[in-house]
Amino acid sequence: MKQTELLSDSTNGITRAAALLKDGRIIALPTETVYGLAGDARDSAAVAAIYTAKGRPSFNPLIVHLADAAQAAAFVHWNNDAEKLASALWPGPLTMVLPLRAGHGLSPLVTAGLESVALRVPAHPLAHAVLSAFGGPVAAPSANPSGRISPTTAAHVKAGLDGQIDAIIDGGDCGVGVESTIIGLLDRPTLLRPGGVACEDIEAVLGAPLALHDGAAINAPGQLGSHYAPGARVRLNAKMAEGGEVLLGFGPIECDLNLSRSGDLTEAATNLFAHLHRLDQPGVTGIAVAPIPDTGLGLAINDRLRRAAAPRD
Ligand code: TXA
Ligand code: MG
Repeated sequence: MKQTELLSDSTNGITRAAALLKDGRIIALPTETVYGLAGDARDSAAVAAIYTAKGRPSFNPLIVHLADAAQAAAFVHWNNDAEKLASALWPGPLTMVLPLRAGHGLSPLVTAGLESVALRVPAHPLAHAVLSAFGGPVAAPSANPSGRISPTTAAHVKAGLDGQIDAIIDGGDCGVGVESTIIGLLDRPTLLRPGGVACEDIEAVLGAPLALHDGAAINAPGQLGSHYAPGARVRLNAKMAEGGEVLLGFGPIECDLNLSRSGDLTEAATNLFAHLHRLDQPGVTGIAVAPIPDTGLGLAINDRLRRAAAPRD
């Protein structure tokens, strides 16, 4: 067991977080999407420690986080679409997969041996401050035990990983609430994972529709059927709760917790993981979830809910 330090959103906290990263340690830090479990992406021992703490299958590559687009571009073969998306949507909840440049220096554990890498410049001011103070690439999957609900507060991180990681820096609640949208830019722009930026917004920037991932190659977490799963069983498109269930609502309905009473998908995304954490209590046998439209951030919400409802191993 490690002693997990709790750091505050302060100059001291940021300096300490950066020093821990430089020392090859792993720390949880807030981003605008979810809390990430961060380690130096060039340091295989640090990256291995991330996989160990999460209990994550090691074939699943990690996202590399940078303080700005110029730092990100140094690792890859940059292109026009990357430039357009970075100008319009970075910093923010968008991840781009691009071909690695020779001599990139990243640990092969981060890329899982692929010849491409997933890059993201987060918008959260505390993430930005820690990344700037550290000055290098940071691998950071969500800071939860593999397969469980992603954390949107420091308390969620502590509940899942206390004693497994070196520190948690507390930046309050995450605003977006679902992970970044992942776009592949290896061939034509392809949606690899719906997330915190709506596809419609990405298509508007590119001026062209996104291709859909065909599921044939390795990658986004779709491979792992069950993911983001609470302890209780999850039932989708429910009209009402049945025996032992609680109802997670959307829109003006009677329920135990509502993702957004006004039917706002951005608000629903913000609340998604926090509400699942709150409803997932001992004695609750199931979480029934009201139907959610498949547009805008609804695509990411339904993607995470389908994984939470998928059959478990
Ligand atoms: O919002 C987020 O993206 C959060 C916060 C912490 O930034 N991070 C996150 O990272 O969700 P992670 O590691 O849990 O998700 C990374 C996903 C994986 O499902 C992986 O399969 C995909 O990105 N990925 C990483 N590298 C890839 C690559 N070279 N090609 C295709 N997919 C890749
Ligand atoms: Mg995750």
